[in-house]
Amino acid sequence: MSDIDIISKYREQFVTHLNERTELTEPKNLYQPVQYILGLGGKRLRPILTLMTAEVFGGKVEEALDAALAVEMFHNFSLVHDDIMDDAPLRRGKTTVHEKWDINTGILSGDAMLILSYQFLESYPAEKYVELTKLFSKTALEVCEGQQYDVDFETRDDVTIPEYLKMIEYKTSVLVAAAMKMGAIIADAPQKDADAIYEFGRNLGIAFQLQDDYLDAFGDPKTFGKQVGGDILENKKTYLYLKALQMASKDDQEGLLHLYSIKPQDSATKVDAVKTIFKESGAVEETRKAIQSYTQKAYEALSQIEISEKNKTLLRQFGDNLMERTV
Ligand code: IPE
Ligand code: IPE
Ligand code: MG
Ligand code: MG
Ligand code: MG
Repeated sequence: MSDIDIISKYREQFVTHLNERTELTEPKNLYQPVQYILGLGGKRLRPILTLMTAEVFGGKVEEALDAALAVEMFHNFSLVHDDIMDDAPLRRGKTTVHEKWDINTGILSGDAMLILSYQFLESYPAEKYVELTKLFSKTALEVCEGQQYDVDFETRDDVTIPEYLKMIEYKTSVLVAAAMKMGAIIADAPQKDADAIYEFGRNLGIAFQLQDDYLDAFGDPKTFGKQVGGDILENKKTYLYLKALQMASKDDQEGLLHLYSIKPQDSATKVDAVKTIFKESGAVEETRKAIQSYTQKAYEALSQIEISEKNKTLLRQFGDNLMERTV
């Protein structure tokens, strides 16, 4: 099987399990949004990583399915609440939950998904359950911390690049890392390998969020599935923005600071002006380089692990695909 076929097979196995385990009905206004957001799909990259990691370390895919489901359910919960916080109209090419229903529905359905995600871990034997739940809770709290930094940064004009990197590590990469480590735990991998795969996922997750920021500005609106320019409209302090502030001409620096201090009626003009500064300052190239560099760090962590070359190639291939994605 080619690597692409292997990845598709994990995705299919996961989706079959998801459908079996989430037959939620009443009350409709609680569960329809849950089915809706899960049904919109997405790349399913975190659960695929859980399943892949379990198998790479000699575990059974079947045993990793509930952990994969916990991770994907948590991720979807975080998206529903994130879209409220970011005032986002579109998710996976469709109307966001809080716009299709309302904000209260988004809050409560999101809460229910968070609880469901923990319930899926209850199927593990006591010792594994404790180990998985501890990692999961630590990660979930870090995601909240990352999300709070992200929001705090919207109204700050002195955010530094190290602060930004910590923010994305928390809001995004720790979940990717934990998804993989959970696979390692289920497979009873040696502690040092479980830690190394966490490090792989952490660096890959940072590269992944840098790419997400890049696509938010420069993705194709026809295929991206989210509102292009949404981060710019919310004055998000992304890597593109922070690098542009460092590298742009004096005039453009002032222009950018001004653009990020207003919420204009004409949003398209703001987005276009900001994107021009991102490009002309060299911030786009710097972001591409940072994506490369974190991907490389992930691969270095991988080289510490004693698994077959074939499996290393599979994980590297997965990383490469993520960085070339357009969605
Ligand atoms: C979106 O995650 C949120 C981020 C952390 C960037 P994904 O890009 O994995 O979203 P889906 O699940 O594929 O839609
Ligand atoms: C999302 O970051 C991180 C979490 C959902 C925890 P973003 O706000 O950049 O994600 P998107 O772009 O809306 O998917
Ligand atoms: Mg968002
Ligand atoms: Mg956000
Ligand atoms: Mg984003």
